[in-house]
This record gives sequence, structure tokens and C-alpha cells, in this order.
Amino acid sequence: MEGEKVMELSPALIIKKRHGETVYHFLKQKKWLQSEKHPREIENDLLAIPINEICPLTEDEISIIIHEERIDIRIENIEMITNPPSVEPHARLHQFITQWLQSNLDIVDTIPHRSKEEMMRGLLSELPKRWEKLGDLILLPQTAFSSEKWISIICEENQLSLWKCIAEALKVERIGKQKSIKGDVIRSSQAQLLLGDSSWVELLDYGVKFGFDACKVMYSSGNVTERHRIGNMDMKGEIIVDCYAGIGYYTLPMLVRGDAELVHACEINHHSITALEWGAKANNVSDRLIIHQGDNALTMTKLEGIADRCHLGLLPSSQSAWKLAIACLKEKGGTLHIHMNVEEEKIEQWIESTINILQQYVIELKRDYNVEVLHLEKVKWFAPRVRHVVLDVEFIHYD
Ligand SMILES: C[S@@+](CC[C@H](N)C(=O)[O-])C[C@H]1O[C@@H](n2cnc3c(N)ncnc32)[C@H](O)[C@@H]1O
Repeated sequence: MEGEKVMELSPALIIKKRHGETVYHFLKQKKWLQSEKHPREIENDLLAIPINEICPLTEDEISIIIHEERIDIRIENIEMITNPPSVEPHARLHQFITQWLQSNLDIVDTIPHRSKEEMMRGLLSELPKRWEKLGDLILLPQTAFSSEKWISIICEENQLSLWKCIAEALKVERIGKQKSIKGDVIRSSQAQLLLGDSSWVELLDYGVKFGFDACKVMYSSGNVTERHRIGNMDMKGEIIVDCYAGIGYYTLPMLVRGDAELVHACEINHHSITALEWGAKANNVSDRLIIHQGDNALTMTKLEGIADRCHLGLLPSSQSAWKLAIACLKEKGGTLHIHMNVEEEKIEQWIESTINILQQYVIELKRDYNVEVLHLEKVKWFAPRVRHVVLDVEFIHYD
């Protein structure tokens, strides 16, 4: 079932061939590899390794050290060979659904003015190309099996066999379907379980255990690099306020890997809190976690002057909690991690205006801080030309 290989222009990291293996593993670990394309040798003993959309696109932001020296890299759009997207498991899905359609021909036959084969081709062309795998649960995208064509052939009698067929093809036990995250403050998930008894999933990510109900709370696999970056920071002895803790996406890595002394986790959604409590227990860090249930506009006011660091992980913007977060910092200062969705070409402008706003808050709070940008992390593309970024800002006390 192999399709044709095609040449496509794609961003790639150009490096010396002898660094190939180390750089390949570095990119793989960062999840920056473009897995549908292969590295290839280009002139002058150089190798081009394809990178994906979450990899930073400027050389300055990628630091690869070999034998204590930062190696030379270049990013260029070059022609790379693309594998057909449907080798495995897409091919299996195609194959299994073809069989399912063949044994459901009666229903297909009832549709007027279309030949069976034409109808099958149409249905197969609409099979989902992407899905989210959470342990043994596959969350299909909202649009999967929802077109008019598919709705016309799925009925009460055959739907269970269809979900079972998909589960078998994708080698999982449970199937769910994503619906858009509700626009409410708690960002409740509206996923629906199609096959299986429970939507509780447990994952291990970089040594941190997470558990949550996939139909009740959101989990963003796309934020994995940021979870790893935050987890890699040494937070020994630090007191932290996680202003939007969710199921512990950042709280747990800060405790487990960053070794924070104590995290105050603010969270409003009781389903997320159930998951956070589970995660704290599973990772054996419950004694270093205090959960503050409710709106952080209230809970954070009780945490003034205690924190070395505040994490502000809400999209599209966490601005409503910035001033409260500064007030939570210790008199001697500390760090904020501010998440935001920003248009690519407005990032510099956004950094400048953010620093101005933060300085204004510092004045209003009568704190003696200098405000300095530590780092800007580009996490992922949120939409075409819109980046999910994290700005690390330091507040330094002056005498
Ligand atoms: C996007 S989720 C957390 C996501 C996680 N930080 C990440 O980036 O993957 C945001 C969380 O903030 C919580 N939240 C939103 N507004 C809140 C508020 N005013 N007070 C407390 N929690 C809030 C939501 O319930 C949700 O669990």
C-alpha cells in the first residue's frame, strides 16, 4: 500500500555530516524532527535534517553542544524526499475501513445516484489523517466520520462495529472524538467516548506521570517541549505559584524534575483538580503541593509576597493575572513565565508592550524591581502565523 515518494521544499537544519547522529538524536528528543521526511546528504560533506513546525526557525535559538563547543548550524528550505503519509497506521486504517465498508454494502447501496465504488472512494478519501493517541485511547478529530457522506451510512446498528474496526486498525482499546474546547473559563473538554467504558488515561512523559479524564479536561501534547524545558530548570529551594495549574502540566514537572520546594497550584476546574491530585500522589510529591481551588483572582490574593516564580500558562492570554502574579513574588524579586498567542511578525512589539505593562504594575504595587527579559520560547504554531510563546521575565530588586 505504499504511495509515491515526492520531493518537497521543507525547512532543514544543515550541519556537518560528522555531527549527524548527535544532532539527529537531539532533534528527536526535542520532538523537532520532521518524521515524514528523511535526512539527506548535500554538497560539501553537509547533511540536511528536516525539522518540523515546532522547531525554532532561527539559528540563535538552537544550541547544540558537542564536546563543550556549540556547533555551526544553518537553517534553509531545501528539497527533501517526503514519504507518503499513509504507510502505517494510516494504511491499516484505510485497509480496515475498506473491509468494513464492503461488509456494509447494503447500506451503501441504498444511496441513490452513486455507484458503490464511487461512494467508497469518497468515504475513504475523508478518513482522518491525524489523531491524538493518549495511551490506549485514540481521540479522533471533531471532523472525523462527521461529513454528510459518513453520517448517511453510520446508523445505530453499525456504529459500534465501525468504532471497533478503527480501534483494531489503530491497535488501541478505546476511541473518542474531540469536540472544540469549550470557550468557558475552565476550558472544559467536550470529547465524547465512542468505544470503551472509561475515558480516564494515564501517561508517562519524561519521567512524570499524568492521569486525567480525556472527556472532561484538556491535554495538549503540542506543549511537550515547554513541559520539558520547564522541568529541566533547577528549582531547588524555590516556592512557586502555578496560576493555571490544570492537571499539573507544569506543576508536576516543576516538582518531580525541577525539584521545587513547594508549588501553590491555583485551579478552578474540579475535574482538573481530581487529575492533579492523582498526579501528585502517583509521582509521590503530594507533600510539596498545595492546591487552591477557585478563581485565581481570589486565591492568588492570599499568596502575596511568597513566591520565587509564577507560572502563567493560559492561552490565548494570561494577562488578567499578571499583576496578581507580580504581587505574589517575594520582596527580593523572582521570575514570571508568561504564555501568550502572538502573531509571528508582532512578537518583538508584544515583548516591548508586555514589559511596559509589567513595569507599570510594579509601580502600582510599589515594588522596587527592575524588569528584564530573560528568554522568549517559541513553543508551537497555534494557527497559521500565530505562535504560542512563553516569555520568561525576571524581576530584580534594586536598593
Ligand atoms: C489551558 S489549561 C492549562 C493548560 C496548561 N497550562 C497547558 O499549557 O497545557 C488552563 C487551566 O486554567 C484553568 N483556569 C482558567 N481560568 C482560571 C482562573 N481564573 N482561575 C483558576 N484557574 C483557571 C482552567 O480550568 C484550565 O485547567
